[in-house]
Amino acid sequence: MERMLARSARGLDGRLRAAAPARRFLRKIFPDHWSFLLGEIALYSFIILLLTGVFLTLFFKPSMAQVTYDGMYPALHGTRMSEAYASTLRISFDVRGGLLIRQIHHWAALIFLAAIMVHLLRVFFTGAYRRPREVNWIIGVVLFTLAMVEGLFGYSLPDDLLSGTGLRITEGVAQSIPVVGSYLVYFLFGPDFPGDEVIPRLYIMHVLLIPGLLLALITAHLLIMFHQKHTQRPGPGRTEQNVVGQPLYPHFMAKTGAFFFAVFGVTALLATVAQINPVWLYGPYRPSAVSAGSQPDFYLGALEGALRIMPNWHWDVLGVTVPLNVLIPATVPLGLLLGGAANWPFLERWITGDRREHHLTQRPRDVPTRTGIGVAAITFYGVLWLAGANDLIAYHFGIDLYLTTWIARIAVLAGPVVAYWVTKRICLGLQRQDVAALEHGAETGVIRQLPDGGYEEWRAPVPASQRAAVEARRPLPLPAAPSRGPASPARTHLGRLRQALNRILTESVPLPPAQPDDHDGERDRELTSSRHHR
Ligand code: HEM
Repeated sequence: MERMLARSARGLDGRLRAAAPARRFLRKIFPDHWSFLLGEIALYSFIILLLTGVFLTLFFKPSMAQVTYDGMYPALHGTRMSEAYASTLRISFDVRGGLLIRQIHHWAALIFLAAIMVHLLRVFFTGAYRRPREVNWIIGVVLFTLAMVEGLFGYSLPDDLLSGTGLRITEGVAQSIPVVGSYLVYFLFGPDFPGDEVIPRLYIMHVLLIPGLLLALITAHLLIMFHQKHTQRPGPGRTEQNVVGQPLYPHFMAKTGAFFFAVFGVTALLATVAQINPVWLYGPYRPSAVSAGSQPDFYLGALEGALRIMPNWHWDVLGVTVPLNVLIPATVPLGLLLGGAANWPFLERWITGDRREHHLTQRPRDVPTRTGIGVAAITFYGVLWLAGANDLIAYHFGIDLYLTTWIARIAVLAGPVVAYWVTKRICLGLQRQDVAALEHGAETGVIRQLPDGGYEEWRAPVPASQRAAVEARRPLPLPAAPSRGPASPARTHLGRLRQALNRILTESVPLPPAQPDDHDGERDRELTSSRHHR
C-alpha cells in the first residue's frame, strides 16, 4: 500500500512538479495564541453555514404565493400563509432532522457574527492591522458588513411575523435615504409592500450572491494572511523579522482540524438544547400585526436601538421631507463605526508617520489612546445595543419606557467619553506597573527584615517573557522625514492638528534605558522559526 502511494505521488510530482512547493507549504510556521482561534471560529462557522444552508435549500420554497396550511403543526391548520412560511414549518416539523439543521444554521449565523466582532477587536487592540496587513483589515470590514446583510436577509426568508416586522423596518430605513431611497425599495420589494417579490429576491441574494462574495473574500483574506504570515505576540526570541511557532503540518493541521469539530460540536449542542427562532409561535407575517417584544438578531440590535432613541426630527426642504429621525440612526452610528474602522490604519499612519512593517503585535496597554478609542466605540455600540431592548428593560425592571430612552440618549454620548478616559488611565497605570517591575523587579509580597532593622519587599527578577513583552513597546526611531514627519515644525493648521493628535496618540509612560539583550538562551530553545517576507 505504502509503495503504491509513493509510486502515485512520484508519478503526480513528475507531471505537476508540486512536491517542493507542497513541502514548503506544509512547513509554514504558525505562531500560537488562543486569540488566533477567533478568526478560525468565524471560518468554521461559515463552513457550517454553507453545509447546513445547502440542506435547507432542498426543502425551502422562496415563494410568496398563498397556501392554506395542512402540515404537522395543528395550531396553524387552515391558516393562510406564504409558501415560504409553510415550507419553513415543513422543514421544522415534517422533514427528518430539519428542525435541528435549521437551528444549527441559525446558531452558526450568530456565532459567525460574534466571532467576527471579537476577531476584529483582537486585531484592533493588538495593532495587527498595521502595515503590511491593511488590505486584510479592509477586506475584514467588508466581510463584517456583508455578514450582517447576509444575516438580515436569511432571517427574513421564513416570512413569519417577527421577520416581517424586520423587513418593514428595512423598508422604512431604505425609504429614508434621499433621492435613491424609493428606487432601493422598488428594487427590493417591487411596487407594493410586502408585495410578492421580496422573498424570491432576498433568497437569491442570500443563497448565491452574498455567500459567493463572502467565499471569495474569505479566500482572499486567508491567502493574504498566509502569504504575509501571521503576526506574533512579543516574547523571548520573537522579532519583527522571524516567525516563531509550529509548522502547518502536522501540528497546526491537527489542532485546527480538531478545532473545526469542536466548533461544529458546540454549535450542534446549542442547536439541540437551546431553541432559536420558533417561527411557528409567531404566525405568518401580516403588515397590520406586530407582537410585543419584537427584536432582531443580536448583531442588528444597535441599529434598532439607534432608531428607538432618536428624537423625532425631520427637515422639510423645497416641499420634500427628509426624515432625519430614521436617516440619522440608520446610517450614522454604523457608518461611524464601520467607516472609522476602515480608515483607522491610514489615520494612525498619518498621525504617527510610521510606515514600517510590523509583525509583532502590541499589547492593548502599549497604546493607551487607541485602546481608549476602541473601548469608547464598544461602549457606544453597547449602549445602542441595550437601547434596542428598551421595552424589555423597562418591563423587566419596572422602569418608565421614556426614562430608558432618555438614559440611553445621555449614555450614548457621555458613555464613550467616560470609557475612553477610564481605559486610558488604566492602560497608563499598567504601563507604570511594568516600568516599576523593570526597574525594581516583580512584586512578591515577601517582606524581609534588613540588618539595620528596617523592612523591604523582596523583588524577584522579572521573567524573560514579561521583560520581552514590556520592552516590545520601546519606540524604534522613526525613519527621518524632517520636512514632512509629525516631529517637524508645523506650518499649517493641518500640520498643527497632526502634531496635537500625535501627542495624544503616543502618550505613554517612558521605559527605563534598555538593558543588554539577555534572551539569546531562550531564543535557542524556541521550537521553530522562519523569516518574514521582505
Ligand atoms: C468572515 C469573516 C472572517 C474570517 C472567516 C476571518 C478569518 C481569519 C483567520 C482564520 C485569520 C488567522 C487567525 C487569526 O488571526 O485569528 C485571520 C486573520 C486576520 N483577520 Fe480575519 N476573518 C474574518 C473577518 C475579519 C474582520 C472583520 C477583520 C477586521 C476588520 C479581519 C482582519 C484580519 C487581519 C488584519 C488578520 C491578520 C492578523 C494577524 O496576522 O495577526 N478579519 N482572519
